[in-house]
Amino acid sequence: MTDYSILIVDHDDTERQALVDYLNARYKTTGASSGQEVFALLKRHHFDLVIADIDLPDLNGFKVLKHCREKYPAIKTALLSAYDVDSYIKLSREKSITNIIIKDSPFNFDELGWTAHNLLTGDFFGLKRHLDSNGHIKKICLQDSDAIQASITTIIEYFSQVSDNGDLLDTCDLLLDELLYNAMIHAPRDEQGRKKYQNRQHIVLEAHEQVMCHYGYDERKLGFAVVDNFGTLENTRVMDVLDRHISGAGQHDDSGRGLYISRGLADRFIINIRRGIQTEIICLLYREAGQHIIKPLCINQI
Ligand SMILES: Nc1ncnc2c1ncn2[C@@H]1O[C@H](COP(=O)(O)OP(=O)(O)O)[C@@H](O)[C@H]1O
Ligand SMILES: [Mg+2]
Repeated sequence: MTDYSILIVDHDDTERQALVDYLNARYKTTGASSGQEVFALLKRHHFDLVIADIDLPDLNGFKVLKHCREKYPAIKTALLSAYDVDSYIKLSREKSITNIIIKDSPFNFDELGWTAHNLLTGDFFGLKRHLDSNGHIKKICLQDSDAIQASITTIIEYFSQVSDNGDLLDTCDLLLDELLYNAMIHAPRDEQGRKKYQNRQHIVLEAHEQVMCHYGYDERKLGFAVVDNFGTLENTRVMDVLDRHISGAGQHDDSGRGLYISRGLADRFIINIRRGIQTEIICLLYREAGQHIIKPLCINQI
């Protein structure tokens, strides 16, 4: 049991109780069923994290979370929703909501657990936490853009030992290509903070600029993480490109499509940023098709 305290706001009694019970094993967790109840509780108790359902009988979840953050800036927030995140990505961007937990059926308690942990502790880096304990994780370091293709081949060969699903492996290939190039082209900055390298030129990174790719699998998933040592991606930039491409406003933009398409291709697309230090983009793909189709939003930044 830790000292952190969580408030779960959900109008459905059974659902709320299930979430409260699950989190109570690790955190002091309280339930509330309306916005007004939240406001009353906040006056009397301290909470580190508030997780609010998007649909509440009085105020919607966005408004409840906005109030929490305005009154108590240190509070961490996440939205809970059964709907496709794409349909309210604009609102999420406007309200700076970057974590949305999906009410899947059956409910994915693991995801609730790690989202709470991420937000409470700021300790969210690493592919390992997303793979079951028996999953092995391997690592490749890249310094030369000409090595990207060979690295992808190595990773796909490793995955093909456990999956003969050609479509799934092709998806991994596309995602790795996009994210590894992004990490080489967009992350490195010079002393003035300007991008050091240009699109699709031959890039030879300096030693401290090297890009890492961790990859592995467990019984149900394939996963990989692309990590750069700059942390120059920003959560606001990610929300902006997602919003522009989902709404169609960005169809003529010359950038932003890569992240948008990648999020669509991966079953779980997790962005972790330690500003100025490291960016990690994790992709998880379910080995069996058609699982957990509605995707959460998971962008963590410290
Ligand atoms: N690893 C990264 N580090 C810093 N910025 C990044 C990183 N990956 C992506 N970006 C930023 O996100 C934007 C969108 O990336 P993406 O959708 O792949 O578009 P593109 O690569 O075509 O510019 C990039 O233009 C860049 O500003
Ligand atoms: Mg790109």
